[in-house]
Amino acid sequence: DSIEKGGYEHFMLKEIFEQPRSIMDSMRGRLEMNAGHLNMGGFRAYEQKFVNAQRIIVVACGTSWHAGLVAEYLLEDLARIPVEVEYASEFRYRNPVITERDIVIAISQSGETADTLAAIELAKSKGATIFGICNVVGSSIARATDAGAYTHAGPEIGVASTKAFTAQVTVLTLLAMLMGQKRGTLTDTKLRELMVELDTIPAKVEKALLLDDEIRAIAATFCDVPNFLYLGRGYNFPVALEGALKLKEISYIHAEGYPAAEMKHGPIALIDENMPVVVIATRDSSYEKVVSNIQEVKARKGRIIAVVTEGDDVIRDMAEFVIEVPYTSEALVPLVSVIPLQLLSYHIAVMRGCNVDQPRNLAKSVTVE
Ligand code: G6P
Repeated sequence: DSIEKGGYEHFMLKEIFEQPRSIMDSMRGRLEMNAGHLNMGGFRAYEQKFVNAQRIIVVACGTSWHAGLVAEYLLEDLARIPVEVEYASEFRYRNPVITERDIVIAISQSGETADTLAAIELAKSKGATIFGICNVVGSSIARATDAGAYTHAGPEIGVASTKAFTAQVTVLTLLAMLMGQKRGTLTDTKLRELMVELDTIPAKVEKALLLDDEIRAIAATFCDVPNFLYLGRGYNFPVALEGALKLKEISYIHAEGYPAAEMKHGPIALIDENMPVVVIATRDSSYEKVVSNIQEVKARKGRIIAVVTEGDDVIRDMAEFVIEVPYTSEALVPLVSVIPLQLLSYHIAVMRGCNVDQPRNLAKSVTVE
């Protein structure tokens, strides 16, 4: 067991630290910097379908659904195609409108999630093309799809998903870039810029992992609180959801992720001097707006933990803690900003004496509905 954990105390921590490598593995052979092109076998086989598609529907559950939400921002932004992100369990029972010009992207680490598999079968019966993004090779979902791309993150043992999430987001980023290129919505210059930036992500994740000690200290301050709020906007909204999910899964602290601006329609009522609020406030197009949201939290004495871009000295004066992550392009931010949130939930759970790798009531793959 301890050999399998490679010297780490838990599989989850090992998997968090594997991310520079697993992200690289998910890009291998796909992001070809020297040749200057992108390559994805599963995409090539269905290229015309992707080019002519009228809509993309993403179906998934749990953390994979959060990766799907990142894909909504990516695909709409880079490939200008409408995207709907569906909980597989809702989609399959809703009598959804599906046509032959829809592409369904099914995302699943295990490739065995019953609801996701059933959603695929439904979409197939209506004539949609199904593209799978799975981690486990040869899994049921991988076999049920028309085409797809494996995430190549390696086995994920910790029940709370970490490296599978960043691998899914990496593959979805490549897919959105390819689609944008083929649909003519992404200029060569912009595509090239994104490729160069994506190539630097493993190193930036490596750098974000150096925050581990700092984050452990923050965890010690908050490990006894009953509630947490996570806020983000744009590409960081799904990251806020994922941060909250990680915390509740393994530490059993109640946590809610919310779009930062939507806070005023509810969660703001919960904010007082006892409420920790994690705000993801990296330098991007919604930065100024997020800063105003931080001020709204501060005005109600909420305890702010802000994930910011390196060198940010504006938020430092407003937050109780700031966590500085390396700068990257807006579309790639989730790959970096999620890292400190994974570490925060991990350390809080360890301090609370929780079974991090096998949290109560949860299963690694849910093969019943
Ligand atoms: C379970 C796991 C989660 C996972 C979800 C979807 O709830 O505990 O970590 O995100 O299933 O699993 P999948 O294998 O389809 O990605």
